[in-house]
Amino acid sequence: MSKAEKVFSLARRRGFFWPAYEIYGGVAGFYTWGPLGVLLKNKIRSFWREMFVYRHGFVEIEGPSIAPEIVFKASGHVEGFKDVMVSCLNCGAKYRADKLLEERGVEAPEGLSPEEYMDLIRENNVRCPSCGGELGNPGYFITMFQTTIGPYSDAVGYLRPETAQNMFTEFRRVYEVMRRRFPLGVAQIGRGFRNEISPRQGVIRLREFDMMEIEFFFDPEDEDFPWAEEVMDEELNILHEELIRSGGRDYETMTVREALERGIIHYRSMAYFMVLAKRFIAALGIPEDRQRFREKLEGERAHYARKVFDQEVLLDRWGWVEVSGHADRTDYDLSRHSKYSGRELTVEKRLEKPITVTVRQAYPEPRRIREAYPEKIGEIMRSLTGMDPEELYRLLDSQGYIEVAGVRLGKEFFRLEVGEERRSVKKITPHVVEPSFGLDRIVYATLEYAYREKGDRVVLSLPAYVAPIEAAVYPLLDRDDLRGLAEDIVLELEENGFRVFYDYGDSIGRLYARGDEIGVPIAFTVDMRSLRDDTVTARDRDTWVQYRVERGKIVEMVERLVTGEPFEEIARSMGLEKVSV
Ligand code: GLY
Repeated sequence: MSKAEKVFSLARRRGFFWPAYEIYGGVAGFYTWGPLGVLLKNKIRSFWREMFVYRHGFVEIEGPSIAPEIVFKASGHVEGFKDVMVSCLNCGAKYRADKLLEERGVEAPEGLSPEEYMDLIRENNVRCPSCGGELGNPGYFITMFQTTIGPYSDAVGYLRPETAQNMFTEFRRVYEVMRRRFPLGVAQIGRGFRNEISPRQGVIRLREFDMMEIEFFFDPEDEDFPWAEEVMDEELNILHEELIRSGGRDYETMTVREALERGIIHYRSMAYFMVLAKRFIAALGIPEDRQRFREKLEGERAHYARKVFDQEVLLDRWGWVEVSGHADRTDYDLSRHSKYSGRELTVEKRLEKPITVTVRQAYPEPRRIREAYPEKIGEIMRSLTGMDPEELYRLLDSQGYIEVAGVRLGKEFFRLEVGEERRSVKKITPHVVEPSFGLDRIVYATLEYAYREKGDRVVLSLPAYVAPIEAAVYPLLDRDDLRGLAEDIVLELEENGFRVFYDYGDSIGRLYARGDEIGVPIAFTVDMRSLRDDTVTARDRDTWVQYRVERGKIVEMVERLVTGEPFEEIARSMGLEKVSV
């Protein structure tokens, strides 16, 4: 059995995750996170929030998962969020072309046309994995889930393929409620949905998944990002464009300073988030040499991005797998939403010296609009009144019309004014650097790297600060007096906010094994001596070494363990007596 199969088997057996709708045979790409999986996910989510959001004074929002079509037209997803699909001419099964080639070990860059993928499929004699039939009918498939909003079939909506768009559509409001703080980091943790063509990689490729994203809004001409100074000498493993094109190694290790100086990374903020991402994943137990940042080449990048690095981790069965993406989204999203909504999505920057600017503004002419659209005048004027006259001019100039209330109003419906003004502020459309994490994959990778075998036992060596259950308590023998004391300890730990794995009625070896397998970092065992001197044994999950600890120190031990202090160090500093077993 491969390690991945073992992890999947453990996950299902002990309740980390399993395929959803099992009683109906399951549906590819949908998984249920079980009791332990949810606890682990919650811990990793909180850890991310502390590390990425709170530490920098960024703010978090929670928007809807469904958006009207206009949002994804503006974002470019309706046009560009698609994969190339091929079908089996024999059994009708459908496959995502690039993944199919990848599974067959054929190197295929992302972003080829349907015909180019089909050529590669033919050249490499790739056939249907299900029936061996010939493949054909290449074409595009939109990978967003479409729905309708309410009972109107023309009110098309989509489930968001990324949480990012809420941060763009709500940018103006967040900027205002944050009293125009700038640069501004806005985070969102929530579900993303992608109607994958043929997901066959368990929790690695889901159709519904959790994302943790930050949009960092800033001025590219004045990149005010002091945190970057802290990480200038820190190293990153980067598989950059030059290395890829030369067919080189897995990655090149370089400091942030070097990556910036060589122009491999453009923005200090992006480099900083990449370092943080490396530290975050390393803190989950994935060593730095099993991580890299792969630059995405032209054609592979999402339509909105000018530069992208995928943070990848090396997994047992699937090789290098993306766990986060770091994109320079420029001002693409805000500009497009501004254009499609007619709303200004800019920030004001104070200038050192006032300047004279030419101001071009457009004001609606209600009389002319009423004459042409008498039944819609109210709706049209309500929409236009909220729009910025400069933005109206810009739109009229660039596209020749303004679309509101379902009608297109040309220049003849507006009064155009051009004049000079002294200004001490300038308006800019912020640029965006986006670190975006796939939580489900990260949880899976954490589990895979924590998975160890010790003889015939499985030990899940999760870092104590993300372990779903922090402590185990067992009576050595299944007796009323030992259980009574054990239950008092369980209560005390729970009252202190810890989750406890309490088990009895089996040999102590088997109890330990059950706790080790789900990653409980410390086990307290109540024995006959506990009844006499109020001490218990404390056992380290990873080394199986045991110490004798007074009852009054149990909570402190767990508290220290979950803040990341090593077990041995805690035992030493508390002066605990080692138990020979
Ligand atoms: N927002 C990043 C992504 O959709 O991959």
